[in-house]
Formats: sequence, structure tokens, C-alpha cells
Amino acid sequence: MAEQKKPLKITETVLRDAHQSLIATRMTTEHMLPIIDKMDKVGYYSVECWGGATFDACLRFLKEDPWERLRKLKAGFKNTKLQMLFRGQNILGYNHYSDDVVEYFVQKSIANGIDIIRIFDCFNDLRNLCTAVKAANKEKGHAQIALSYTLGDAYTLDYWTKTAKEIEEMGADSLCIKDMAGLLVPYEATKLVKALKAGTKLPIQIHTHYTSGVASMTYLKAVEAGADVIDTAMSPFSMGTSQPATEVMVETFKGTEYDTGLDQNLLAEIADYFRPIQEQALKSGLLNPKVMGVNIKTLLYQVPGGMLSNLVSQLKDAHAEDKYYQVLEEIPKVRKDFGEPPLVTPSSQIVGTQAVLNVLQGERYKMITKESKKVLAGEFGQTVKPFNSGVQKKAIGNTKPITCRPADLIEPQLPKFEKEVAEWKQQEEDTLSYALFPQVAVEFFKYRQAQQKKVDVTAADTQNKAYPV
Ligand code: CO
Repeated sequence: MAEQKKPLKITETVLRDAHQSLIATRMTTEHMLPIIDKMDKVGYYSVECWGGATFDACLRFLKEDPWERLRKLKAGFKNTKLQMLFRGQNILGYNHYSDDVVEYFVQKSIANGIDIIRIFDCFNDLRNLCTAVKAANKEKGHAQIALSYTLGDAYTLDYWTKTAKEIEEMGADSLCIKDMAGLLVPYEATKLVKALKAGTKLPIQIHTHYTSGVASMTYLKAVEAGADVIDTAMSPFSMGTSQPATEVMVETFKGTEYDTGLDQNLLAEIADYFRPIQEQALKSGLLNPKVMGVNIKTLLYQVPGGMLSNLVSQLKDAHAEDKYYQVLEEIPKVRKDFGEPPLVTPSSQIVGTQAVLNVLQGERYKMITKESKKVLAGEFGQTVKPFNSGVQKKAIGNTKPITCRPADLIEPQLPKFEKEVAEWKQQEEDTLSYALFPQVAVEFFKYRQAQQKKVDVTAADTQNKAYPV
């Protein structure tokens, strides 16, 4: 009997996670547009191209309207599904928002061109995902829930399968294991994917980073165990803190029952396009060759690559680079005090900063950040294990911690944002840019206005020249 074919599907990340992980999210729309016609012919399952840090980076550093970027990408990708990364109740920001803002953001993302919304929460607290999932269902988008993968006593196969079942019942269309730190090792991937496949009917997608050097082997094992989709990046922006290379994974499965059917010649042309962009980033220093190597500390300390580089710069600023290893050892302790959450935005920043303070102050929790207090007050939701009650008491005193879904306590915020943004508003989506990043958005709106004035003047000049009086 012939082998039953189950072609592996590929999500291409070069337009989102790959450049977020390697070059601080600085790829511009102008970099992307010339190649999307070719990318659209590849036959990718989806192209991840929006959300995550790209929204913030567009407004803050690139002076681009993220919504305009999305519309341009949609116009070019006529056959390929567009995918975004969405931080549950945090949307693309760092705080919890009210349900009306979450719903409106989902609606506008889909209306402007997103097909698949990958939704995650840094605590894997499903209550922080349900509003976004329901909104995506309502807008006929594909709601994918991503579980943030991490290690620890609480994270047993039982935990993952039980949570997967709940995700299925919530109305998600697929499930992703999001391994932001590269902690999922090959043989664990076999066990995990098999268990998930047995426990749920949802398609399973695996997302990992090369940081610890095992990623492509992890994909091999995950696919053999039944994973349906993997995330890869075109070779010039692959490996290191990014994903395994698309071309390599396509070649790996060629001629097997998992053959992706993607054309290597076409992929080579696309890689040729991205290579000079990578070389330019290396030359300008935007791409640090250090992030391209294997960082085995990520396995030892279970800390994502991005968090390690933040740590180095925080310590540099404090002239305390010699405390690096002390802080690395403090991170797992703080994580434990905070209920052992996965370390991913924003929990990675919160735990990291608190660990730095604990070491620099010479006394643990002598100073507690505002964000740490919020976590310990339950404002980000529930962690899989309880908080350290002594540390919690120190942080919030006798205040009663929140135990309900945090967003239940947030009044609708849209009317307030609408009022505040009115003087700048040129499109409905501006309200959402403002809601997420108020100061940065206003800076951008001012810049946009100035540019428009400039264009008006130039247009008038040209007109004068064209029709001399
Ligand atoms: Co990622």
C-alpha cells in the first residue's frame, strides 16, 4: 500500500518574527513590497507579517502607519493567508485592555487583511484569550491559540493536553506550541505532539527559535509525531534567535510523506532578495553576529534570547556587567516567586527587571517594580502555580488580590480613546494605534501631518512649474 501523504505546511516568518528576533523589528514596508509577489507564488500555508512588536516598531522607529503596511501587504498577497501575533488581552501592548478595545482591534485587523490571528497569553491564562478568540470567530477569522512553552514542575504532558482540550472547547481553530526560548528539545517534542494529537482534534502548529541550536531537529521530531504546520524563516533571516531556514526544512522533507511541495528555485530567488538586506544590517550593526550563534545559556537558565540581550544592556546602563551570572541565577527564583510563568512578553521583562533589582540592591525585593506589584496583585491573571505569599504580601500589603478575569474589572475604554484622539484622527484605525501607544502614536500623527503639509507644498510647487504663470 502506498504511503499516505500528509504534506507539511509552512508558515513563513521573515516579515515578522525573523526580523523582530534578529534586527530589532526594523524591516520596513519598502523592504517587503518588492518581493511579496514572488512570495505569494510559493504556496506557503501562511505568511506571518504583522502584530507582535511590528506595530510598535512601525510607529516608534520607522514612522510608518502599521495599518497602511497591512493594507499594502494584503494587496500584494492575493493567494496567501496573512497571519499576525496578538497578545491576548494585552493586544499588542503591555497592559490589559477592556473587551471593547480587544474586539475592535480584532475586527479592524481582519477588515484590513489578516486571516489568521495567533493569540497567546504570557501566563497561559485562557481567560485572557477568550475575548479575542470570540471576536475572531465572529469576524470569520482563523483563531489560533498559542500556548507559551516553558519548563517547570507544573508543565507536565497532562497540563499541556488538558489545556489543549480547553482551547478546543473555547472555539479555537488551531493550536500552536509557541517555544519562544528554544526550550523544546527533539524527543520532548515527540512526546508533546503525540499527546496533543491524541488529546485534541485541533491542527497543531509548532513555533520555535534556533537560540539553543536544537530547533531543526525539534521540527523533524514534531513533524514525525504528527505536527501539521511549522514556522520557518527564509535563510538570510533564519537561525540564531530566529527560526530554522525555510529552504532547509523544505529539503528535509522532500520525497517523504511530509513533502511540502514548495519549489526550491523560487525560494532561492526570494533568498537572493533578502540577502543584501541582511548584509546591510550586518554592516550597519543592526544585526549583531552574536545573535546568529548557539546560545546554550538559554537551555541552562531557561531564558529567551531576547531577554538575555535586554539583561546585558540593563546591567551595562547600571555599570554592573559583573553581576550578569548572579542575575541569571536570580531569574528562576523570581519566576518561582511569581508562580512559575512562561517567560515571554511581558512577563519576561517584568521578571527580568525584578531580578536585576534584587541583585543590584543587594537585598531581594527591597525595591519592587510597579509591574511586579501588578503581577502579584493578580492584574495579569493567574499563573499555573500560586505566588510566593511572603513576596506577595511585601508587594501589595493587605490589598486583596484579584482572582476573577482581570478584564472583568476594566470599564469600556473606547469612548475615552475616541475623545482623546479626535484631533489627530484621519482613519478609524488611528483610535487603536492611540489606545495601545498613546504618546508614540501622537508623535507619529504629528509627523504624518508634517509630511502631508510638505507633500502639499511640493505638489503646489510642481504645479507652478508645470503651469508657469
Ligand atoms: Co517567536
